[in-house]
Amino acid sequence: MVKAGLEDVVATDSSICNVDGKEGRLIYQGYDIHDLATHSNFEEVVYLLWNGRLPTKTEYETLSKQLRQNRALPDDVVKTMQTFPKNSEPMEVLRTAVSMLSMYDPDHSSDTREANIAKAMRLTAKIPTIIAYWDNIRTNKKLMPPSEDLNLAANFLYMLKQQKPDELSTKSLDIALILHADHELNASTFAARVAAGTMTDMYSAIVAAIGTLKGPLHGGANQEVMKMLQEVGSLNNVDAYLKKAFEEHKKIMGFGHRVYKTEDPRAWHLRQMSEQLGKQFNDLKWFEMSRVIEEAVFREKHLYANVDFYSASVYFLLGIPMDMFTPIFAMSRVSGWTAHVLEQLSNNRLIRPRADYIGPNNLKYAPIQQR
Ligand SMILES: CC(C)(COP(=O)(O)OP(=O)(O)OC[C@H]1O[C@@H](n2cnc3c(N)ncnc32)[C@H](O)[C@@H]1OP(=O)(O)O)[C@@H](O)C(=O)NCCC(=O)NCCS
Repeated sequence: MVKAGLEDVVATDSSICNVDGKEGRLIYQGYDIHDLATHSNFEEVVYLLWNGRLPTKTEYETLSKQLRQNRALPDDVVKTMQTFPKNSEPMEVLRTAVSMLSMYDPDHSSDTREANIAKAMRLTAKIPTIIAYWDNIRTNKKLMPPSEDLNLAANFLYMLKQQKPDELSTKSLDIALILHADHELNASTFAARVAAGTMTDMYSAIVAAIGTLKGPLHGGANQEVMKMLQEVGSLNNVDAYLKKAFEEHKKIMGFGHRVYKTEDPRAWHLRQMSEQLGKQFNDLKWFEMSRVIEEAVFREKHLYANVDFYSASVYFLLGIPMDMFTPIFAMSRVSGWTAHVLEQLSNNRLIRPRADYIGPNNLKYAPIQQR
C-alpha cells in the first residue's frame, strides 16, 4: 500500500530548496532562510532561485530594473478583467489573467532557457499588478498604475492602497515574500513540475500551480486563519473556541505541516512582524490572540504554527483584504514555481508515476436494461 498523500516519497533531485523537517531548517540554494530574511530582499532571492547563486551588483540591478519595467499588463488583459463578475475570487481572477498573459508574451513561441527566464521575469513582475488591479476594479477605484520607483513589495502596497506605504509595512511584506518564495515539492510546485514535464509552456505550468495553491489545505490556509481570528473575536473567547474545535476534531488552520515536525522557521519571522506591526498600528489584539491560540494548540495537540498562521495577522495589519492573502502567497511563490520549471526542463523526463490497482477484475459487461 502506498502511504496516502505520497508522504515521504522522494520524487525528484533538486538543488533549489531544502526543507529539513526534523531540525526546522529551510535553505534556498544553500542559504539559510534566517540569513536571507535578515539580510536579503525579495528581488535578490528571485535571482538566487533562478540562477543558483546570489547576483553581482550589476546582475541585481539588471533584474530589479526588468522587474520594475515589466509590471504593466496588456490592455486586453485589463479590459477582460473589467468584465469579470465583481464577486470573483482573486485567485480565480489571477488564474484566468495569468493564463491570458501567455498569449501576449513576446517569447510566446519560444521555449529556450533564455525565453523561459524572460517569461518567469514577466510573470513575477505582472502578478502583483493583476492582484492590485483586481482590487481596484472590484472596489470601483481608479486603476493605480505601477510605479517604477518602488521595489516589488512597496509597489504592490502602493497600487493596492493607492498611497505610498510606510517603511515597516514595505519591509514586512518584503520579508514575507522572501519567506514564501519556495518550499521544495509542496503541492503547487509539484503540480508545476508535473505540467512542465509534459513540455507544455511556462504559463500552463504556472496556471496549474495557481489552481493548486488555491486549496485551503495549501495556500488558502492563511485566509482561513484570519476568519478564525475574527470569529474568536477577543482574547476572552479563545479557550471556549478551541475547546469546541478540539471536541469537534476540527482542524485549526495555520497549524501542522507534512514535513516540519518542529517549528516552521518561517513562523518565527512572521510572529515578530505580527507583533511589530501590531505595535506600529496600535492594534495588538490579533497578535495577542494568535499567541494564546498558538500556546493552546501546542499544549493540546503538540502542533506548531506553520507559515500561514502569523501571515494572517501580518497581512491583515498591512491592510490587505482577506481574500487577497492567498494571491500574495502566489505573488511570491511564482519565483519558486518558475525556478522549479526551469530545473525540470534542464533535465526533463515526463513525470508519470503508477497506481496500485485495487479495483475489481473480470466483471462482465451487462447491457443497461439489465442493470
Ligand atoms: C498541513 C496539513 C495539511 C498536513 O497534513 P498531513 O501531513 O496530511 O497531516 P494530517 O492531516 O494527516 O494530520 C495528522 C494528524 O494531526 C492532526 N492535525 C494535523 N493538522 C492539524 C490541525 N491544523 N489542527 C488539528 N489537528 C491537526 C490530524 O487531525 C491528524 O490527527 P489523527 O492522526 O488523530 O487523525 C495539516 O496539518 C492541516 O490540514 N493543517 C491545517 C491547514 C494548514 O494550515 N495548511 C497550511 C500548510 S503550510
